[in-house]
Amino acid sequence: MAPQRMPVTVTVNGSDHHLLVEPRHTLLDTLREDLRLTGTKKVCDMGNCGACTVHVDGLAVYSCLTLAVETDGHEVRTIEGVAPPDGLDPVQEAFIRMDAFQCGFCTPGQIMSLRALLDGNDDPTDDDIQTAVSGNLCRCGAYRNILRAGRLAADLQRARRESEVAR
Ligand code: FES
Ligand code: FES
Repeated sequence: MAPQRMPVTVTVNGSDHHLLVEPRHTLLDTLREDLRLTGTKKVCDMGNCGACTVHVDGLAVYSCLTLAVETDGHEVRTIEGVAPPDGLDPVQEAFIRMDAFQCGFCTPGQIMSLRALLDGNDDPTDDDIQTAVSGNLCRCGAYRNILRAGRLAADLQRARRESEVAR
């Protein structure tokens, strides 16, 4: 018997999607397999590593622990949706400038966690930054530069805001 599927309407990176998904299907698999948004990484698939972090209604969540049906009527943002049309998000720019990754596999999740932090607080303390990425494991041990990237991202974000206000 074909598995039962349920209708889900979800906004992903500003675009509405009408999907039919199995109730057991995770948001992570839906993003990667149905929507071909493969920037969100699948590593442990059990809530241990943070590589699959995305935003649901602005909150950072593990997409491997979120069912696709739970996102019906909600807004999802993935790593593909963070950059403005004309460049990089401050967090992305800071990761490059601070050399905050080696293999890069954990990086989309780290960036999404820091983006969620900076969306609500563009002057975070080191504790705020470390807490924001505390659910994101990096096997390469890039943590020191990830903290530096978090600090620089906040500086870049504030500078961009100030230059927009001055225009
Ligand atoms: S893949 Fe989701 S927490 Fe590791
Ligand atoms: S950069 Fe390699 S796991 Fe984080």
